[in-house]
Amino acid sequence: MANESIYSRALQGHFYAVGVGPGPPDLLTCRAARLVETADVIIAPRSAVAKTSLALDTVRHLIAPRQEVLDHQYAMKQSETAATANWAPMAELAIDRCLHEKSVVQITLGDPMIYSTTCYLLPLVLERLDAGHVHVVPGIGAFQAAASLFAEPLTIQNDRLMLMPATDLAAVELALGQCETLVLYKCAKVLKPLAALLEKHGLAGVARMVCYAGQGGRQTIHETLSDAIAPRHDYLATVIVHIGRKPWNTATE
Ligand SMILES: C[S@@+](CC[C@H](N)C(=O)[O-])C[C@H]1O[C@@H](n2cnc3c(N)ncnc32)[C@H](O)[C@@H]1O
Repeated sequence: MANESIYSRALQGHFYAVGVGPGPPDLLTCRAARLVETADVIIAPRSAVAKTSLALDTVRHLIAPRQEVLDHQYAMKQSETAATANWAPMAELAIDRCLHEKSVVQITLGDPMIYSTTCYLLPLVLERLDAGHVHVVPGIGAFQAAASLFAEPLTIQNDRLMLMPATDLAAVELALGQCETLVLYKCAKVLKPLAALLEKHGLAGVARMVCYAGQGGRQTIHETLSDAIAPRHDYLATVIVHIGRKPWNTATE
């Protein structure tokens, strides 16, 4: 069994990649909140196109003046080399703080293992810190927050669930035949062609979009994609396509 005490507070010399959920503070796990409150150093990623770190906004109420907050601006780099180069200086800082017996928490929206900045920082940190001093704390993913708004199960029995970015529409088209529920991230910039693709496959009526899921007044829910393409959309948009259901397995009945 995992040693639970490593999560009871942020330990000196340890690095934690912490998922802070989709935005609302009450969708933060108790573990995440405890680690954020007790860390000496908080690394807060901020997209180059955002005015503020959305992850930091989620936990700001937990942070005290004694804590060092390192704001890290990143571009939406597509190449591994560029992403690694962008994160290398922050990895150096994180490693240095840990080697000086500070506790370090990197916060990230949703879950740190799903399309997250942690995926760039973590390998660099693991190159230099003892693996026993590096921890990942799961967070509620945006797709879970989005799906919860419709009270329609993502999967039942043998259904297949796929999660992918909408940016490669050829890959999306292939995926439509490979699963019963398709969740698409990073849809904001491709909404029109995505809507056309779903229309072509007779799926426009079973696709819904949520923008800023769980984020109070900013949250918008779109029951159909044709409705969803009407207004302007920002970056945080998730589309869920309920393609169908697989037959139940009756072999054991
Ligand atoms: C870089 S990924 C981060 C995913 C995150 N780590 C997770 O576990 O959900 C960013 C994408 O997640 C989705 N996303 C994140 N937060 C969201 C929210 N509150 N509402 C809707 N979509 C969100 C959007 O599709 C966005 O393009």
